[in-house]
This record gives sequence, structure tokens and C-alpha cells, in this order.
Amino acid sequence: MRPRRSIVRPSRRPSFRPIAGLLLLAPLAACGDGSGGSRDVDDDFPQAVAAGLAPTPPMGWNSWNEFQGNISETLIENVADALVATHLKDAGYTYVNIDDTWSNKAGRAADGSLQADSGKFPDGIAAVAAHVHAAGLKLGIYGDRGTATCGGYPGSQGHEMQDATTFAGWGVDYLKYDNCNATLNVETQYQTMQAALAAAGTAAGNPLVFSLCAWQFYEWGVATGNLWRTTGDISDNWPSIYANILNNRAYAAYAGPNGWNDPDMLEVGVTDDTFSESTNHTEYQSHFSLWAISAAPLILGDNPTMLANNPEIVAILGNKEVIALDQDALGLQGTQVWASADGNLSVWAKPLNAVGTRGVVLLNAGAAAADVGFTLPMIGLAGGSATVRDLVAQQDLGKFTDAYTVSAIPSHGTATLKVVGTEPARPSGTVDVSDLTWTYAANGLGPVEKDMSNGFSAAGDGTPISIGGTAYPKGLGMAGPAAVIYRLNQACTSFSSVVGIDDSTNGQGTVVFQVWAQDGKDAWSKLYDSGVVSGNQGPNPGAQTVQVDLTGMRRLKLMVTNGGDGASWDRASWGSPQLVCNK
Ligand code: GLA
Repeated sequence: MRPRRSIVRPSRRPSFRPIAGLLLLAPLAACGDGSGGSRDVDDDFPQAVAAGLAPTPPMGWNSWNEFQGNISETLIENVADALVATHLKDAGYTYVNIDDTWSNKAGRAADGSLQADSGKFPDGIAAVAAHVHAAGLKLGIYGDRGTATCGGYPGSQGHEMQDATTFAGWGVDYLKYDNCNATLNVETQYQTMQAALAAAGTAAGNPLVFSLCAWQFYEWGVATGNLWRTTGDISDNWPSIYANILNNRAYAAYAGPNGWNDPDMLEVGVTDDTFSESTNHTEYQSHFSLWAISAAPLILGDNPTMLANNPEIVAILGNKEVIALDQDALGLQGTQVWASADGNLSVWAKPLNAVGTRGVVLLNAGAAAADVGFTLPMIGLAGGSATVRDLVAQQDLGKFTDAYTVSAIPSHGTATLKVVGTEPARPSGTVDVSDLTWTYAANGLGPVEKDMSNGFSAAGDGTPISIGGTAYPKGLGMAGPAAVIYRLNQACTSFSSVVGIDDSTNGQGTVVFQVWAQDGKDAWSKLYDSGVVSGNQGPNPGAQTVQVDLTGMRRLKLMVTNGGDGASWDRASWGSPQLVCNK
């Protein structure tokens, strides 16, 4: 059942509570002035899709969630054909990925090369690749960095170049690389396979997508893979699905074209095929919508050959408007911009590749139906009039002013929306950055704080900003990894700030501060890099001064990495960050 929708009266003061209960009886169009605000004619949306192997999150299918060891060349080829027949291929699902148990468990061939299990794949993997390619799709395969895969099949340790050459020679387009039975350094082993894949792919004229499956986020993964698992294995029930997407939030700052956080493959439709229904359709829709707002890889885990019998599942997985939310060319991972005190109700949002446009998912993870609402500043838009569209129903819901609430979202349900309003006003004069509305903010722990340090996960729980013993009444409190984006529209000439680990960590924490800007041709460049800054450097050596020229720049990104050593106590403060703008 679709939630009943309503519009609430304007709330001038952005409120971090859902605004519910004030129903307007007038038709939707009666709200607001109808203009949608002035358009940013000098903004160059849409931005171009990035170049590279994975400019948007990879989409496809993988055998593991539904089939585990029960795979064969017939199955893989039938799945490819089913993706075509169900039009899921047309919707963007491209990679057909064979997971564990495909190889000869008894061992490698005499020359040390990997070989397919001849019972499951009598014609070999190259023949499956040919079938998949003939269907207009791409083939993925599975390997492991250790001595054996998780299922006990041969691992690639010490055979990286040989295996990469084998995969590329077979015409494989994608490698998922697992983490079982490994004792050597994880970073080194993944990087060894990265280099082997690059060399083998170049030699074969067939570059391969590299999917890291190390079951947790590592910062080196960002420079190593095209996607990297951030979590343990997903299973087909709501607690597992919800836990994975929550754990995936902390790394949002690192997501972008050619590098994606992977909260694991989709479970949508998996139990449905066996009609055991451990996850219901409301939860499957929420699973898909949350993956889409999070710019997660969309790798189907169900049985596409059964989908002809299951139009409700096809409707979820094939919904082009929800897929477009995932595949948006800006490549920003949506963040949780508001959560109720108990965490059950939340608002997720991300900027989309059109002026004034945001994707929004309202989630009710609680046990009873509930209203969930948002304000425009919460999603990085100026207050005023905006329009809203339901992406699941593919239906316009009309106009609203300042705030919008969806009533009676069912337990574990979502509303999946596109909002079009007005970008925040460009900065003018000399401005404290903490007084601006950002268009995007990702943070390692709870929200980015204004004029206080980052405390823990709750909003507003920091302390006054203090860097190297000096207090800064104005500033931003982040927890690495973090990224905050502001729209400048070529109105500003410079940015300055003091940066350092906040004194509230008592000497703990290591981060890198970076300042990035996007020029008039959409290219991002790094204008400042602090190097690793530690909290234990004592007063002042830990504080650095940033001053960068922003002439002609469209957007500013303030970034904090975790310093390469995990995110513990990475409270990174920006003291008195200011923009000088002349328009
Ligand atoms: C690990 C991975 C899973 C799957 C299995 C196969 O558990 O995380 O996604 O590939 O191995 O054995």
C-alpha cells in the first residue's frame, strides 16, 4: 500500500524534527508561488558522465545470493538471456557475474593455470563469455587473494599475473576478489592483483572492473578498486539489509565516478523466488531505494529466470527513475541528513545532475507506521517553493513550500522522491563558510557541525572549536572521512581557514585536510593538501593555515580523509573558514 501523502505548512526555521500533523486541505498546487524560484542560468548542469570503467555504480547480477554452489554454464547463460527478455539489460544491468565454486576444486592445471569445473562448465568460461557478450552483456568472475577461496577452491595467492592473464584471455570483464584463507598483507595482495589485472587487461585489449571484497572499508581501496565492499555479507532479511546500509554511510566522502562503496549485492527477490518471504515487498523496495540513494552498485542477487512470474519484483528492480537516482552522473553518495533521536526515522538525500535537484529517501525503520518529513535546507536547497515527484510511482506530487512530509510510511517502508527547488544563493562579500547552506555534506560520524567540533553521532553534540590551543567561534567540525560541497558559481576569489585535529581529542586522531575546487569545465582539482595531521603534535604544530585562489571556480569541496589509519578520533576542525566573494 502506498503511503498517504500530505503537504505541511511552511516552517521558516529549519527544524530537525519531522513536521507532521498540519495538513493542508487545499490541492497541492495551491502551495507556494509556483515559480520554483529563479534558475541558475550560469550553472552548467547537466555535467558530463565521467570517463572510465565505472563512471556510475556498476549494475548487473551475481550468482552467490541465490545459488551459492549450484551454478553451471546453462544457468549463467540462461540468466544472461533472462536479463535481455525481462528488459533488465535495457534498464542498465550489464555484468553477469559468476561467484565462487566455478573452478576445479581439485586444483590447478599442470601449468599452474586456473581451470573451470568441467562438470559445471563443460565448454569452459570463454564459451560462457562469448554467449554473454553475444547477448550484449559483460561477464564477471570471482577470485580470492588467499590460498583458497571462501568455498575452498584454488586462490590466486602467488598466481596473480597468471590468473589475471587467464581471466582477460577468456574475455572476462569484471573480477570480484575475495579475502578468505589469506595470511599476507591485505593491501599488498589487492594491489598485486590490481597491477596484474591492469597489465593483463591492457595486453588483451580488455580492461577489467576490479571489485574488492575485503568485507570492510580500507582507505587504500579507493586507489585500488572500482568498488569496494564496506560490510560483511548481506543476507535476505531486513536487519541485515538495514545494518549494511547504515555501516556504508561513514565512507560516503570517498564515493564517486570509478570508485564506489559497496554495501553488498541485492537481496531483492531472493526469497521471493522460493516464496518463503523472509523479506517482504515493502522491505525489498526500501532495500532498492536505499541502495539507489547511496550510489551503491546494483548487483542483482535473485534468479532472473524466474522473474517472468514475478512482476512486482521486476517493477522494483526495473524502475528506471529509481535506477536513475543510483546512476546519477554526479556520483555523490546520498547521506543521512536527518535522523530521529532513536534513529528509526531518517531522511537521506543527494544532489542530482540538474540545477536545484535532489534525490530524497524518507525511511521509517521503526515497527509502526510513521510520518517522515524534511525541510529544503536539510537537503541543501534554499527555502521557498519546490516540486516533488514520487520516483517509485513515477508520479508528480505537486508543489510545496519549505517543508514536506509523507504521512504514514509503513514499518520498514520508504518514500523515494525527487525534489526540484532553488540552489542556495551564491556567496557574496566576505562570508563565514559556516553561515552558508552546503549543497552536500558527508561525514564519518553523525552530521558535520557548524561552529562547534564534531562530537559523536548526534547532531549538535560537539564542543567549541579549538585547534592548537586557540578557540575559533566560527568554523566547521568534521569527523574523517568527510566532504562538504558549496556552490560558488564563479563568485568567489579565495578561501582561507585554519585546520587541525580538534583539541577535544586530547592528542588522538590523524587526518589529511584537502581543499578541492571544480572549474568552469567541470574538472575537479586539489588546491590544498595538509599531509597527515596528527592530534599528538602538541599546540600549534597541528594547526595549519590554508589560503587558496578560487577565481573562476564553480564549486568548493572541503575534504578530510581518515589519514590512512582508520577513523578513530579523527575530529577535524576548520577554524574561521572564510570565502572572499566579489559578486
Ligand atoms: C564471501 C563473499 C561473498 C561470496 C562468498 C563466496 O563470503 O563475501 O559475497 O562471494 O564469499 O564463497
